[in-house]
Amino acid sequence: MRRLPLLLALLCPLLAAAAPTPPQSEIRPGALWEDDHGNHINAHGGGFLLHAGRVWWFGEHKVPGEAGNTAQVGVHCYSSPADDLVNWRDEGIALRVSDDPASPIARGCIIERPKVVHNAKTGKFVMWFHLELKGRGYAAAQAGVAVADRPEGPYVFLRAGRVNPGIPAQNAPADPAKEAPIYLRDLPGGQMARDMTIFVDDDGTAYHVYASEDNRTLQIAALDDTYTRHTGRYVRLFPGRYMEAPALFKKDGKYWFIGSGCTGWAPNAARSAVADAIWGPWTELGNPARGENAEKTHFSQSTYVLPLPGKPDTLIYCGDRWTPKNAIDGRYVWLPIVWEDGKPTLPWRDAWRPADLR
Ligand code: DGJ
Repeated sequence: MRRLPLLLALLCPLLAAAAPTPPQSEIRPGALWEDDHGNHINAHGGGFLLHAGRVWWFGEHKVPGEAGNTAQVGVHCYSSPADDLVNWRDEGIALRVSDDPASPIARGCIIERPKVVHNAKTGKFVMWFHLELKGRGYAAAQAGVAVADRPEGPYVFLRAGRVNPGIPAQNAPADPAKEAPIYLRDLPGGQMARDMTIFVDDDGTAYHVYASEDNRTLQIAALDDTYTRHTGRYVRLFPGRYMEAPALFKKDGKYWFIGSGCTGWAPNAARSAVADAIWGPWTELGNPARGENAEKTHFSQSTYVLPLPGKPDTLIYCGDRWTPKNAIDGRYVWLPIVWEDGKPTLPWRDAWRPADLR
């Protein structure tokens, strides 16, 4: 009996460590976001998938220090009930880097901005990501693809490469050699593909949207009906505007774009645009951020626009606040999109509840 206080003193910290994170109800942009184990969520440059009553969050797993910006582990997955979006369960590593140094996804490569879509025809979950080969900086500019039978993986790497080799854009100028020689440079080997997203239209067609031609243009390319290959149809947008971080969404029958300028890991003023058809023409609408830190997009860079499950016209901007010197500490800035004069805007909120958007 005399040993009971000692036993309790020993057990209490263990019990506390094993206790699940208490339920949370608020999104606090820029704060530490705990998963169900109490760890800061590690899914940067993320993408989201609504499937089987849950929202699945895929993102870059970073490690401490500057090396954390290279892929030492792979793509991390979390999930939350579709009506929640604040409490996230750790689903583990969805795509693991390879221990084979000859693999395109060898540990130490760069895997950025993974996005997962579900293909109804094959039943597969398809992950696309921006891939840079180990030791080559950002020169490779490839798109990688992997598939899985379950949303959380494990994903099996299929292949990586540049996009649509040998095929000119649908909207190529009549005389590219005269108008823009850069349009010819990548024609034989394929289009560069860096910052990216995947957008699935209402008719089930999926599109790969990516920064190309040394980030000078954004391109939109159609995928085939398995979502694992490009079809050869693509357009070149915003020439000379140097945009990154593309996020696409649809509302009121129109296509909307939020992205950023090109300043490495440092935040800049976001961009936005609208089109009646996905192939364009696209019209720029300016910086959607509003308020004190609008010129830096509230110290964030877009990665996705998430339609509120069950209320898809209510949209959530999801961005990253990068911390390149200690990559694992990167934060998430999510803000409800507010419509002002027919344009999407991003006013700052210290804290907000997804439940209040319903
Ligand atoms: C900005 C991009 O949006 C990020 O995904 C990453 O590629 C950094 N640049 C690297 O500097």
